[in-house]
Amino acid sequence: MSIINPAQLKYIESFRKGDDSLLIEMEEYARTNNIPILSWDAAEFLEQLIRITNPKRVLEIGTAIAYSSIRIARNLKKKGMVHTIEKSVDNIALAKSFIERTGYGNKITIFEGDALDIMPGLNKKYDLIFLDADKEDYKRLFDYSMVLLKKGGIIFIDNLLWHGYAAASKVPKAYKVSTKHIKEFNILFMSQVNLKASILPIGDGIGLGIKI
Ligand SMILES: C[S@@+](CC[C@H](N)C(=O)[O-])C[C@H]1O[C@@H](n2cnc3c(N)ncnc32)[C@H](O)[C@@H]1O
Repeated sequence: MSIINPAQLKYIESFRKGDDSLLIEMEEYARTNNIPILSWDAAEFLEQLIRITNPKRVLEIGTAIAYSSIRIARNLKKKGMVHTIEKSVDNIALAKSFIERTGYGNKITIFEGDALDIMPGLNKKYDLIFLDADKEDYKRLFDYSMVLLKKGGIIFIDNLLWHGYAAASKVPKAYKVSTKHIKEFNILFMSQVNLKASILPIGDGIGLGIKI
């Protein structure tokens, strides 16, 4: 279920230039293989944000097939780099093969393993962190992210409206637990004193925070 009126989304997407055949192939691959990736409109927003803020060090938690890693990397300036964490062996292999087909292999480093194990061992801070992993891990991954985020840095979090269920009065049984996790997380995210935080109705709901 999309949180945005499909007609509006279709209208916005009608402006897509279609000059990114690999990205279109990746979107199709993700769709047919049920691999969740950032929606096109949220990825457009993320690309703009990268251009506006020009981060040197980006950390992504949840690579999947590297769709968003590539979209980040292609907007970075010369010295910019993305570190992306992925625990699924299958997704790591797919991500590597897609990255190989771009010119961005030198900008993207995959950290292989569980972010809950990897993040405590990272010590250099990041300008932008994109959190897009298992929803039940969001709270702990967010805590690690806040430690690793520079002051003035940006945190970008996907799925905070969770197919619309975060704000729905009736939630299907299959989504009850995940919706509970997201709603608890949203309270935590929006009440951080050291974060200027917003939830934006883009894609599946983007949490955007600036560390203050
Ligand atoms: C929503 S997908 C990421 C999509 C990707 N960011 C994109 O937009 O193209 C979530 C991915 O995070 C991975 N993941 C979930 N929890 C994780 C964790 N704790 N550590 C590392 N990877 C994790 C899953 O295996 C999955 O591939």
